[in-house]
Amino acid sequence: SKGNHRHYMLKEIYEQPIVVAQTLRSYLQQLEGRVSLPIPEFSLNAIKRVTIVACGTSYYAGMVAKYWFEQFARVPVDIDVASEFRYRAPVMEPGGLALFISQSGETADTLAALRHAKAEGQTIAVVVNVPTSTMAREADLLLPTHAGPEIGVASTKAFTCQLAVLAALATNLAQAKGLLTPEDERAIVRHLAEAPASLNAALAYDESIAAMAHTIAGARDVLYLGRGTDYPLALEGALKLKEISYIHAEGYAAGEMKHGPIALIDENVPVIVIAPSGPLFDKTVSNMQEVQARGGKVVLISDYDGIQAAGENCMATITMPKVHPLIAPLVYAVPVQLLAYHVAVAKGTDVDQPRNLAKSVTVE
Ligand code: F6R
Repeated sequence: SKGNHRHYMLKEIYEQPIVVAQTLRSYLQQLEGRVSLPIPEFSLNAIKRVTIVACGTSYYAGMVAKYWFEQFARVPVDIDVASEFRYRAPVMEPGGLALFISQSGETADTLAALRHAKAEGQTIAVVVNVPTSTMAREADLLLPTHAGPEIGVASTKAFTCQLAVLAALATNLAQAKGLLTPEDERAIVRHLAEAPASLNAALAYDESIAAMAHTIAGARDVLYLGRGTDYPLALEGALKLKEISYIHAEGYAAGEMKHGPIALIDENVPVIVIAPSGPLFDKTVSNMQEVQARGGKVVLISDYDGIQAAGENCMATITMPKVHPLIAPLVYAVPVQLLAYHVAVAKGTDVDQPRNLAKSVTVE
C-alpha cells in the first residue's frame, strides 16, 4: 500500500534510507571494515575488462559505475544501452566480466544482451531487484538489490540500491587487484555505511523542493548539467522529469554545453545544475555562469560550501548534506527524483502510471 503517501513513487523515494541500508547489509562487514560479495568463492582478480549493459535508469546507474570501476579498480569499462549493444558486434575478449543491471531482471533487450555475452564466453554478473527473475537465474554472479517491490513506473529506490551494490563491487574489484590498503577499505565501508543517514538528510529538503516546483512546471524545456558521476545523474534527472511530467528535458555533461546546447538557453529554459563541492566544482560552476550570462535560470543543487560559493545568482538552490564523493550519486538522486515528482504533481499528471510506459519492457 501507499501508506500515508499520495503516490507509490513518493513512498518509494522515502523508503530509500531503509532499503539502501538493507542492501548494504549484505555487502558490508561493518565490524571488520570489509566489503564482501554474496558469492565469496568468486574471484575477481582475473577480471581484465568489464562490459556494462542496461536500459533507462539502470543504464545510468551503470554509467556511474563506469567512473568508479575505472577510478578505484583501474579496470577498463565499456558501457552501452542494451538495444545498441546487442546489434553492434561488440568485441568481448576472454576473461571479461559482463555486468547487466536491471530492476525487473526481465527487460527483453538486456536479457538478449546477456545471452549474447554468455555465448561469447563472458562471465555474467547481474545486479537485479527481483531474485527470481530470468536474469538472476541465468547469471554466474548474482548481486541482488534489496529495494523490495517497486510499483511506481518511474524507478527510484531501485536506482539508489543499484548504486550501493555497484559501489561495493567497485571496492571489491579494487581490493582484488591489490589497489586498496585495509585502511582504505575501512574508510570506504565507513562512507558507504553513512549513506542511509545522508539520504535521510536529503529527504528533509522535500518541502522546499515542492515549493519551487511551480517555477519549473510552466517550462517547455529543462536542461540538467553535471560532470563526472553527476553527469549520469543529470541524464537520470532529465529522464525522470520527462517520463512523469511530460516536460521535454535533456541531460548534458556540463562541459559539452558550449559545444551546442547553449544555443537553447534563454530566460524560459530552467537549467538544473548538479554540483557537489569538490575537485570538479569550479569547472561546472564556470559552465553554469556561461548559462547565467545568457539569461538562463539556474537551480543549483550542491552542499552548503557549494551554495555559499556559487549560489548567489541562481533562481533557486537546493542544499544537500556534505558527503563523500563515493556516496554523492546516491544522495543527489533524491532531490532530482523529488523535483520531477513535485513538478508532475503540480502539472496533475498520473505520476505512478505515466502515459505510454510499462513497468517491465518485455519486447525488444
Ligand atoms: C525509468 C525507468 C526505466 C527502466 C528501464 C529498465 O524511470 O524505470 O527507464 O529503468 O525500463 O528497466 P529494468 O531496470 O527493469 O531493466
